[in-house]
Amino acid sequence: MMKLEGKTAFVTGAGSGLGAAISRAFAREGARVFVSDIDEKTAQAVAAECSAFTPGAVAGVCDVSDSASVDRAFARFDDTLGSIDILVNNAGIVHRDADYVTRVNSTGLAQAGELMSGSPVSTHWEVIENTTDAQFDKMFKIHMYGTFYCTRAALRRMRPAGNGGRIINIGSIMGSASLAGAPDYCAAKGAILAFTRATAREAASYDVLVNAIAPGFIETPLLDDISPETRGLFALQTPLGRLGRPDEVAGVAVFLAGPDSTFMTGQVVSPNGGIHMSQ
Ligand SMILES: NC(=O)c1ccc[n+]([C@@H]2O[C@H](COP(=O)([O-])OP(=O)(O)OC[C@H]3O[C@@H](n4cnc5c(N)ncnc54)[C@H](O)[C@@H]3O)[C@@H](O)[C@H]2O)c1
Repeated sequence: MMKLEGKTAFVTGAGSGLGAAISRAFAREGARVFVSDIDEKTAQAVAAECSAFTPGAVAGVCDVSDSASVDRAFARFDDTLGSIDILVNNAGIVHRDADYVTRVNSTGLAQAGELMSGSPVSTHWEVIENTTDAQFDKMFKIHMYGTFYCTRAALRRMRPAGNGGRIINIGSIMGSASLAGAPDYCAAKGAILAFTRATAREAASYDVLVNAIAPGFIETPLLDDISPETRGLFALQTPLGRLGRPDEVAGVAVFLAGPDSTFMTGQVVSPNGGIHMSQ
């Protein structure tokens, strides 16, 4: 028996990376997946792959930072897949501005060099000092507001339907370990972990289980701007000695969506290769 047979799932940011891997893994386990993304073309490609495993996958445009777009996507879900069993709040970004990327790639290496040569650290991150209002707003709009808009839409359906449900929020080790170089990302992911616990308490009475996955560094297009040297530093800090693969996160999502996690709610599961050991 497949683990998600007969279930329906709404996955955000599902046109790439972790969202695509989670969508495929759900479809492999028998779920009909609503593959949503701000980029319709990539959503369509992933939905086609999902339908090859379990017919009935649907591709939909959904900009999670816009509540009207989220509401339209959920209305489309109602019309195409009917009742919702699983929501995965996965859509996310890192800053791609050239100045930002250069600062992140150069500062960590410079500090590592200074420390290894026994000098005092004289290169400083200065990321918060240089973060603009617009960058900070964008980070929170996509990660935290997006998670709120989609959770609200899902609970409005799951509670009256009376069939329980699962919500899986994609956090990050950055939400608790707060590694240097991405302060607004760390804050947004930390907020998602707190919101996960609050939602878990609120929805427990009607059997909606809410958990988070906090991955370490995973090979997806999100890390495209990270230099090979910085990737090397990530691998060096990871006891398993490498970055993770998207399917190593998707397996955790199947566990949290399926029949093997019925006594778990408000928890954070962290596939991270050992880089952070105190979730
Ligand atoms: N890759 C990692 O190392 C890593 C580690 C920890 C957490 N995460 C988190 O995992 C999630 C997925 O990231 P990924 O690594 O697969 O990245 P990715 O760039 O491969 O995929 C992100 C997807 O989100 C979509 N997206 C961006 N803005 C959107 C919006 N406003 N509305 C809807 N969709 C939008 C993109 O189009 C893309 O398809 C993110 O929340 C990210 O923060 C990633």
